[in-house]
Amino acid sequence: MISAMNTDKIRVTIVDNPFDDISIEKEALKEINPEIKSFRCNEENEISNVARDADIIISNLLPLGRKTLLSLKNLRLIVRLAVGYDNIDLKTATKRRIVVCNIPDYCTVEVTEHTLSLIFTLARRIPQIDFYTKKGKANFRTDWKRFGPIYRLSGKTAGIIGFGRIGREVAEKLKSLGLRILAYDPYLPDEIFKDYGVMRTDLDSLLKNSDIISIHCPLTKETHHLIDKKRLNLMKKTAMLINVSRGAIVDEKALYEALQNNIIHAAALDVFEKEPLDKNSRFLSLKNVIITPHIAWYSEESIVTVRKMACEEIVRFSKGIKPKYVVNKEVLRYYPKLKEI
Ligand code: GLV
Repeated sequence: MISAMNTDKIRVTIVDNPFDDISIEKEALKEINPEIKSFRCNEENEISNVARDADIIISNLLPLGRKTLLSLKNLRLIVRLAVGYDNIDLKTATKRRIVVCNIPDYCTVEVTEHTLSLIFTLARRIPQIDFYTKKGKANFRTDWKRFGPIYRLSGKTAGIIGFGRIGREVAEKLKSLGLRILAYDPYLPDEIFKDYGVMRTDLDSLLKNSDIISIHCPLTKETHHLIDKKRLNLMKKTAMLINVSRGAIVDEKALYEALQNNIIHAAALDVFEKEPLDKNSRFLSLKNVIITPHIAWYSEESIVTVRKMACEEIVRFSKGIKPKYVVNKEVLRYYPKLKEI
């Protein structure tokens, strides 16, 4: 049955399982009747030990670097419970003939809703107003003056960096609220932008002309520190920056300085270069920043979806069918018999 693996009983190891049970995996994998082991490793160096026999790994947050991948002799498939896969050494995986899959669309709705929540929260200055009101200090007749100026969103311009699934969904929703949309994505043909009724621009024009800038591209060598000091300086003084993608797309030191010196108006950040955010981080003391702890992906529904979709990839691969979401496509040359379905 298992054309891609030379074993009778498939061994699946969840290396850093954030969930309390494996009931979803047991049910979703029962067709291939694997041995399933689940661990809560906190460090990458624990993985070589817990997954030493694994044919397949389900991974969540921990990196899978060269040393780890070289140590896992049976490993044929990694399914990452996430959209992003910047924490996996794809070059080594491919060399070692390990297929790597992500789950690209389990949380498009969640990240879109989180992005919109952050935009509204920043624009309407909700945290400051809530804090002050709960202290019993609000004067209900005049406090609009204290928290202003608040501007209406409708009629403003939003710039979307990265026009994939999430970027498009965010654009659609913002358009329906009356915003004009600029979008930057060097990897897409013009038709996509036309189809979505948004204006394609280069990055610098987007930064100069947007009131809200929202980042939705993956972290790659090209996007690392894409938003640096020079680019922050291009933004309007009134601009709000939203990052729900990956922290390292923004140069954090430059962003801190831009916020501190009012080069831009405010930011809402769900992601940081180093997570969890250090409890002494300077960002925690900034008044013009909203912080959430890399949670934009989460809902009760998305948790179930991501786990089921990961298992579907495993079942496909185990039955000799090409998984849907292979990210290191070159590896497929080692699996010429995988069927396309
Ligand atoms: C969350 O950050 C994800 O990549 O799914």
